[in-house]
Amino acid sequence: MNEKSAPAATPAEQEQMIETARMVLAMLGERDIRLKQHSERVANLCANFCEKAGILSGDDLLHIYLAGLLHDTGCISIPREVLTKDQPLSDEEMLLIKKHPVVGVQILSHHRRLEALLPVVRHHHEAFDGSGYPDKKKGEEIPLGARLIQLFDRFDELASNCRNAQGMTAEEALAAIREKAGKEFDPGLIPKFIHFMESNAGKAEDYLLKKQAAFVKQSFSNILQKFSAGKIVPPVMPQVVFELRNVIKREEATVKDVSEILEKDPVLSLRLISVARSPIYKGYGDVKSVQAAIPRLGFKETLSIVVAISNKSLYEVKLPQFRVALDKMWGHSLACAYASKLISQSLFLDDPETVFLMGLTHDVGKVILLRAFAEIPQEKSLDFTTVMTAIQEAHQSIGSILLKRWGFGDEFSRVVCLHEGTNFSPQTVKEILVVHLANMLTRKMGLSSFEWDGKNPVEVASAQLLGLSSDTLGRVEEKVKEIIKDVAHLF
Ligand SMILES: [Fe+2]
Ligand SMILES: [Fe+2]
Ligand SMILES: [Fe+2]
Repeated sequence: MNEKSAPAATPAEQEQMIETARMVLAMLGERDIRLKQHSERVANLCANFCEKAGILSGDDLLHIYLAGLLHDTGCISIPREVLTKDQPLSDEEMLLIKKHPVVGVQILSHHRRLEALLPVVRHHHEAFDGSGYPDKKKGEEIPLGARLIQLFDRFDELASNCRNAQGMTAEEALAAIREKAGKEFDPGLIPKFIHFMESNAGKAEDYLLKKQAAFVKQSFSNILQKFSAGKIVPPVMPQVVFELRNVIKREEATVKDVSEILEKDPVLSLRLISVARSPIYKGYGDVKSVQAAIPRLGFKETLSIVVAISNKSLYEVKLPQFRVALDKMWGHSLACAYASKLISQSLFLDDPETVFLMGLTHDVGKVILLRAFAEIPQEKSLDFTTVMTAIQEAHQSIGSILLKRWGFGDEFSRVVCLHEGTNFSPQTVKEILVVHLANMLTRKMGLSSFEWDGKNPVEVASAQLLGLSSDTLGRVEEKVKEIIKDVAHLF
């Protein structure tokens, strides 16, 4: 690798190299899927090894990973029958196989940015004692990258299902490699290699995903720190919500008091009217004004809808790659809110509207994290699951801080902190159980970033503690689906 150091690649160039490598690899996979899998294992193991053993760093690590993916590119020129032949090869066929390092270089030399990989590709079948091919190079004349790839390439051949598979166990393969130190392999690399393979138990962890996960995790931990230190200004709850909350607390509050507050915000008023006119609230009669909507909805339900409308703006970002994720989160939060309310009603809890708000805000931490993450410049096309896993780990603390700042009581923070919990008991507060169950039901409805595990919802711990029947849960599920279809876009 460092034999010829090219100027460092920009993130965009790195991305381009990775895409090119994936394309070539897909072509190789068409020829022989085992070859593609072999190349991926070699790349992941070798890059993880070089990083862990401190042999390479910076761009050289990416180069060795790509060289691992592309070392057998030249096999594209070998007919499928030869590549996949299980019997011994004829001399002629062997000659074809032996050309692949040179053919690989010819193909890859068309991409200027892959120049650093060419010596590795050309020399990955040389042997330390000079008995390899194509140039019979020996010792340190063989580029370091090629000596590294060669180790993992041969190990994979000995112990995997690729063409030359020799069906050895990992231990047997390592013993065979140790025996050829100084003949085929660089003896200086062997001890570290053996140590790595033994401690790693031969697992080829995806190198790029691992890098991404580390980047994403670090980004979220920076966001949390900045948020706690007040360096990230949290989104504010509109003044109207605070005023509304204070007014409806007063027993003598009138429709006029409430509508005066709402009418200060014409956009919010219009949305409130359109939600109140939607089919799910149609029992309240046709509504054409805020004054008409309020008495029909009731103060508490008006507040719920107003908070939901105000919350919706949190889920809006400019970047298209995050828009889809946030839209999904909005659907999830709203579904969870309505499911929480319906479950509360079926249990005759005192205040289903408050539980609606708890359901609505239970994942607010995720929204804040994703919005802050979207602000970080990034060229990488990130793996969505990696991002969501990191968000899942970090969302509870940030959500509870935010809800406190928004003036929601401790009972809301408790729901945020405990809604994922599995250690429920008969003493657990009912609202927490309700939101937990609602959150689970959204998975079954396909309105969550998590898959439903397929079991019957009555078996969920929170459903059992609440004593809910299969019928009730089925009705809640159907009703929520209907509501989401009717109103999600109106907020
Ligand atoms: Fe090869
Ligand atoms: Fe190979
Ligand atoms: Fe959730």
